[in-house]
Amino acid sequence: MTTTHTYDAVVVGGGGGGLRAAIELSERCRTAVLSKLYPTRSHTGAAQGGVCAALGNVEEDSPEWHAFDTVKGGDYLVDQPAALLMTEEAVEAIYQLERWGLPFNRTPDGRIDQRRFGGHTRNHGEAPVKRACYAADRTGHMILQTLYQQCVKRDVRFFNEFYCLDLLRDDAGVTVGIIAFELATGELHVFRAKAVVFATGGYGRMFRVTSNAHALTGDGPAVVWRRGIPLEDMEMFQFHPTGLARLGVLLSEAARGEGGIVLNSEGERFMERYAPTIKDLAPRDMVSRAIYQEIKEGRGGGPNGDWVYLDISHLDPKVVEEKLPDITEFARIYLKVEPLEEPVPIQPTAHYAMGGIPTDTDGRVVVGADEDVVPGLYAVGECACVSVHGANRLGTNSLLDLVVFGRRAGDDAARFVRETDLATPWEHPERPTLELLDGILGRTTGDNAGEIRKELTDKGARYNTDLMETVELGYLLDCADALVAGALERTESRGAHFREDHPLRDDANWLKHTLAYREPDGSIRIEYKPVKMGPYVPMERKY
Ligand code: FUM
Repeated sequence: MTTTHTYDAVVVGGGGGGLRAAIELSERCRTAVLSKLYPTRSHTGAAQGGVCAALGNVEEDSPEWHAFDTVKGGDYLVDQPAALLMTEEAVEAIYQLERWGLPFNRTPDGRIDQRRFGGHTRNHGEAPVKRACYAADRTGHMILQTLYQQCVKRDVRFFNEFYCLDLLRDDAGVTVGIIAFELATGELHVFRAKAVVFATGGYGRMFRVTSNAHALTGDGPAVVWRRGIPLEDMEMFQFHPTGLARLGVLLSEAARGEGGIVLNSEGERFMERYAPTIKDLAPRDMVSRAIYQEIKEGRGGGPNGDWVYLDISHLDPKVVEEKLPDITEFARIYLKVEPLEEPVPIQPTAHYAMGGIPTDTDGRVVVGADEDVVPGLYAVGECACVSVHGANRLGTNSLLDLVVFGRRAGDDAARFVRETDLATPWEHPERPTLELLDGILGRTTGDNAGEIRKELTDKGARYNTDLMETVELGYLLDCADALVAGALERTESRGAHFREDHPLRDDANWLKHTLAYREPDGSIRIEYKPVKMGPYVPMERKY
């Protein structure tokens, strides 16, 4: 049985980007949010250290310095007008969260407190600056709760534990809705809508050691990719330097922002050699690569010499308790290490996808070098590529991206809804999805998900998580295909993308975005589009 629902706008994903878009939409049109989890369990809630804006509350700062850091941190693959816009709108976005009740840490005189984070500097690289607004090391959790409360207040209709399995576009390419699977019943649902906003998060689960929750399986990018939309800069995937060794659980960069340092097995603070000016607060790609270099040269610790250490034992225990309570507890629980007394074993952990569904600064999905707009289709947050993070995102810019571009996407989608008639759907739009699911359930021979991820045994309809995990595995494999295709194509090293056979950045040939298209025969075609430049001329990236 298939149920059909009709809304003006449907948001797919109940994390920060989706909720922020829904707040904007729900004030002007009938809005539904579909989430494969209960929304407050979304991965935004795992973001720890902060959300940045040049408030200048603690030290002098400016949005323009923030934009410069974002572009340089992204190794010049950032679209500069988008970065300038984000850093300019950041300040109001933070005060809006404050007005909605977000419990930020405070300065002694009651203003929002700010702390240091990697790659954020004063006056174009002079010294680290305090730019990250934070709520202990639970900033994402607080943002998610705050946005969810605002959605509830506005009567946003939530469909929880609904998985999006297909995007519906008519013959003219106009978005007409989505198909979703209801986990509790196994039923398919058709959601008709004038605008669809994807906000499904990243795809870090394709890596063995990752900070990402199990839900981050690239659903949005894979669904739209299968419907002809390219994926941008997929080769740019970020490894966060300080994951718990072997487990990947995140230890926030805020630990270094508060004065923590990274040590090798000889007890050396090695970042002094790699980034003499800002040392442990260099951007993530540089710190992660430095860690690998130390390990490669035999200065790693542990039985296999494959980790280094995060040391916060010299910090004031009161500061640790007030500002880093969760991550110290993670070290105690998962590694049985007391961070107030000894260094914590860490290793880089797969953390964040800079690439994704290409959009403009209003969240509209765009295709090709000319950026043709796909009518009615939007994407925000980690599943999107706007592109403000370029080849390497600065810490705390992801939560900012969610609130700034979530608002903008919701605003533009509401405008689009007002100006557009609801399209008439064709008969049985759910048919391809049924074939996909029946194909999985009916399979008796050949490779199946069981060979990759334990046996697929459950053939039932209710809460068939095996079935959904198999679909998710397909999404992850699609994202991995696109990532590898881009990485093979890009014969240079830039930001998070490092190749031993091409160790240098090559602006003459590679100052451009990749667009990976899936061909009908399953092969991948790569096209390019120019980076949108601005005031910042690419220079060697030193810190
Ligand atoms: O280290 C962290 O707290 C992570 C922040 C981020 O990825 O923006």
